[in-house]
Amino acid sequence: MTPAIEARALSKRFGAHEAVKQVSFHVQPGEIVGFLGPNGAGKSTTIRMLTGLLQPTSGEALILGYDVQRQPKEAKARFGYVPDTPNLYGKLNGFEFLRFMGRLYRLPPDQAERRATELLRLFDLTDAAADLIEGYSHGMQQKTALAGALIHDPPVLFLDEPTVGLDPRSARLIKDLLAHLRDRGTAVFFSTHILEIAERMCDRVIIINDGAIVAAGTLAELRARQGGESLEDIFLSLTGGADYAEIASVLA
Ligand SMILES: Nc1ncnc2c1ncn2[C@@H]1O[C@H](COP(=O)(O)OP(=O)(O)O)[C@@H](O)[C@H]1O
Ligand SMILES: [Mg+2]
Repeated sequence: MTPAIEARALSKRFGAHEAVKQVSFHVQPGEIVGFLGPNGAGKSTTIRMLTGLLQPTSGEALILGYDVQRQPKEAKARFGYVPDTPNLYGKLNGFEFLRFMGRLYRLPPDQAERRATELLRLFDLTDAAADLIEGYSHGMQQKTALAGALIHDPPVLFLDEPTVGLDPRSARLIKDLLAHLRDRGTAVFFSTHILEIAERMCDRVIIINDGAIVAAGTLAELRARQGGESLEDIFLSLTGGADYAEIASVLA
């Protein structure tokens, strides 16, 4: 089976700083993979290379077999992407924005409008469809960005920190939606530094620290390898986080 997402020794250097080092992994269709790591670990940089926004210093990114740098049109038609800070057009209303996104992805006008209406309903945004996006709450903007990424029903979805600042209802909606997409065969790759989200939502996790992958597998595999610890313990031991016992002794 052609992997939905393939990173082949992706590396990125900013000046002297190696932000991403030889990152390789596969994501299969119908998998939700969480990309975990502390702030500054290289999650967004990796996602930007996978989506063709940033040219790797070396290595390749493939979407369903299409090289993102060499076959950008074929690759880009096959994924949706919600960046960490979505760039929405504040002077458009929700419906106009989604119709515009649909047209960017070359949907015929009537189909773009139909998808826009469906997605607004799915995301509980129908009542705000005629309001300018600049007046939306943070959560509504997040949902609008996600709706925009889904407008062309892509087989691959990238989400960079999708649940930051979402209220519980919206977070739950996104979780249910991702599970539904996965069951339909969509590959979902999302970054987070919130372990609880990864623990609840992912089939598999990849942990990155200081630009390099330090662990990958199902939670059960990681637990077995690390001796039955919680994901938090595994994460902190792999990424050099604070030692709770030490904190407790200092605070005691
Ligand atoms: N455009 C850039 N120029 C210089 N350094 C950058 C740039 N983008 C990211 N970095 C650096 O690369 C590292 C990884 O950043 P990033 O991928 O944003 O991490 P994460 O998303 O895991 O928090 C950080 O040290 C960050 O400061
Ligand atoms: Mg980031």
